[in-house]
Amino acid sequence: MSSLVYVLNGPNLNLLGSREPEIYGTTTLDDIGALLAERAAALGLTIEMRQSNHEGHLVDWLHEAQAEGAKAVLLNAGAFTHTSVALHDAIKSVTTPVIEVHLSNPLAREDFRHQSWVGMAAKGTIAGFGAAGYLLALEAAARL
Ligand code: DQA
Repeated sequence: MSSLVYVLNGPNLNLLGSREPEIYGTTTLDDIGALLAERAAALGLTIEMRQSNHEGHLVDWLHEAQAEGAKAVLLNAGAFTHTSVALHDAIKSVTTPVIEVHLSNPLAREDFRHQSWVGMAAKGTIAGFGAAGYLLALEAAARL
């Protein structure tokens, strides 16, 4: 069983720390990566962390995760969550389990965030717990 977990982040998440901190907190994506790497080591896992503002990169990386035999993918697709049939199809196209992650709770926000194309195809979703949600998702991946 593979110990590799991909952690894929979508648009605007490169600005975490300064982007709407009242919603997303002040933890940067690099901070999250460091926290994840530490927890992954304790769980006997290895993480491959990526971020892109381009939808196709996320599709390519989902395919790559399967090709590399990854155990799971943690995916915070940012706003593509609510728009991307391509990501929905990509998740359905691979057998690698995908865990949807959000810092905020989209269901408690604007109506346009209430539909998740990612969540409709994902194994499960963790949302609303800020940066800690990534660690919770890693714990979930370890138990798969
Ligand atoms: C987000 C929630 C999305 O609605 C939003 O577009 C983001 C961040 C989150 O982590 O809370 O970019 O995915």
